[in-house]
Amino acid sequence: MLKEYDCWFQRRKVIPGFIVPQIVCAQKGAEVALQALKEYVKGINRLLEFTPVQKKEDFNLSAVFLGIYDKLEKAASFSCTRPAKEGFAIKVEENKIFIAGNDENGLLYGVFRFLLLLALGKLHTGFQLSESPVSPLRIINHWDNFDGTVERGYAGNSLFYKDGRFDFDDQRIEDYARLLSSTGINRISINNVNVRDKAKLLITQEYLRDAARLAAIFRRFGIKIFISINFGAPWSLGKLPTADPLDASVAKWWAQRAKLIYKFIPDLAGFLVKADSEGEPGPFQYNRTHCDGANMLAEAVKPFGGEILWRCFVYNCQQDWRDKSFDRARAAYDHFKPLDGKFSSNVILQIKFGPYDFQVREPVAPLFGALLKTRHIMELQITQEYTGHQIDLCYLPWIWQDIMSFDTAHGEKSRIMEMIKPYCEGFSNIEGFAAVVNTGLDKNWTGHTLAQANLYGYGRMAWNPCLTAKEIANEWSVLSFGKNQTSEKIEKILLDSYPAYEKYNAPFGVCFMVTPNSHYGPNIEGYEFSRWGTYHRADANAIGIDRTEKGTGYTQQYSDGNAKMFCDHASCPENLILFFHRLPYDYKMKNGQSLIQNIYDTHFEGCDEAAAMLEDWKSLKDHLENEVYESVLSRFERQNTNARDWRDQINTYFHRKTGIKDVRGRKIYD
Ligand code: GCU
Repeated sequence: MLKEYDCWFQRRKVIPGFIVPQIVCAQKGAEVALQALKEYVKGINRLLEFTPVQKKEDFNLSAVFLGIYDKLEKAASFSCTRPAKEGFAIKVEENKIFIAGNDENGLLYGVFRFLLLLALGKLHTGFQLSESPVSPLRIINHWDNFDGTVERGYAGNSLFYKDGRFDFDDQRIEDYARLLSSTGINRISINNVNVRDKAKLLITQEYLRDAARLAAIFRRFGIKIFISINFGAPWSLGKLPTADPLDASVAKWWAQRAKLIYKFIPDLAGFLVKADSEGEPGPFQYNRTHCDGANMLAEAVKPFGGEILWRCFVYNCQQDWRDKSFDRARAAYDHFKPLDGKFSSNVILQIKFGPYDFQVREPVAPLFGALLKTRHIMELQITQEYTGHQIDLCYLPWIWQDIMSFDTAHGEKSRIMEMIKPYCEGFSNIEGFAAVVNTGLDKNWTGHTLAQANLYGYGRMAWNPCLTAKEIANEWSVLSFGKNQTSEKIEKILLDSYPAYEKYNAPFGVCFMVTPNSHYGPNIEGYEFSRWGTYHRADANAIGIDRTEKGTGYTQQYSDGNAKMFCDHASCPENLILFFHRLPYDYKMKNGQSLIQNIYDTHFEGCDEAAAMLEDWKSLKDHLENEVYESVLSRFERQNTNARDWRDQINTYFHRKTGIKDVRGRKIYD
């Protein structure tokens, strides 16, 4: 039976079809290598119910050998394709098994993958695998506040803070680090990008002591921490008259601060910065550019090998809905493209995957493929801010799979998944991913137990963006529920969940018909007359924004091929047609039906599909632990209420606006 706390590390006896020697020989190493050995022993206990006997390395023994690839290759008659940085090789021979990392992180990932493959029943004599992460940076962002709340968190309070200070359970953090590391995560930012109240004190001596304790736990698992900082700290904390990045006293203040921070956390990955965004201070306040701001901070952390993650979520959040010439979707490109090539080499831009804000369906932002001389990563969201708050099930690897296969230039190797590579001077590589996480103090970590699949899926896809949503759903379901009919059904439910959610949500990429602030449930005109710049402008005749060259010109930020594709009704992907175009309701869609009929149809279908998921779940009652069954059941019930609300409010809204009837005569409320 499922123990939710254990996630994909269930205690479940496996009968392997090959010999797993009782002896383990591990090379001496530093703390990550030690952790790898501990994880191996722990995992074998869990899956094979014996405790491996540790012996000194002797290749005459029938044993499992753990170590660094180069050393193992030299000493033993073992070889495999050589793994690259943080990569590993696994080889299962007749009476020997080798798990070899390129480095200590690689070894730890190798041990975890060995255990996961063992649990999946995928290992056999003669098995060999050499794998290295595609993305160098695989980052988790916590939006945790020091009062213990989590911004956009739906799984209980913070794992790290309470009542204005650090407050964590070391064992729980270790278990968390294990979960993250087992999927390949190697960086974590520990506090909200909105650095307010007590969080400003995180970079002071008193708080750094505890931050160092937290960093020490993650370090054992190969994970380095980032700290989110407030750009205004020199005046709000340091009592300087300014935070102007070009003021020498400000640069000095940051340099000294960095020195202090690195005393406590010598391997700190660096700072994460939200500047000039939604009210946060930034260089614009001093008429400086984002280069000025980021480069000044980069200089401060440079002596310690630190990096600056600088977010590109910069837009005018005081927009006037009356002004149709201004398009928020253009903002990141307009701000950052002109600065390409002007950032220091230890600045990495962190760009949200879409031009808006983690919507259920958005195009990939045009900065990807347009930044040619600036280091950058892509920001995703695992926490379900706009995708159902972990009440509704929404399996997110579907979204990520679409993103990965987006072709930025229709050229050679120009799909996102092909552009992810380590930093290399002069190239437009995407160096990896950061994602806002969905975890909290809830016993099952993610509120909705099945939302664990999103956490697992993010790590797997960040490691290898070519993995498919289907492959990951299968892995996660089998690891969590065993290889049986229950996991098959759960895999199906997961896969059904995103299409259903998208259908009952805002139609065809129009975005933001959601309840303001909370972002759960429908409110079709909730953002229509607000300052946030996210309008759909539906009237009696048409809906959507013309973002082509005849409209706001947003499409022209893309490469020529994509600009053409999005501009042309015929080639624009239909699931995004209302993001790019303003269309009359009688516009004929590819299935021959009108736009309005498609809106009605998708909303009826989405709601029916949510109801079918509930029934699928009910059929599993006798196969699941009661607590898990009931907690997910209650969420599916709430999801059904939500789906009905979306269906009826959207359909009624458009019916009222247009007076057009559903051709199939289904119930649409007056
Ligand atoms: C969204 C979200 C905020 C968050 C912001 C960000 O606007 O609603 O809660 O602070 O994104 O990414 O910085």
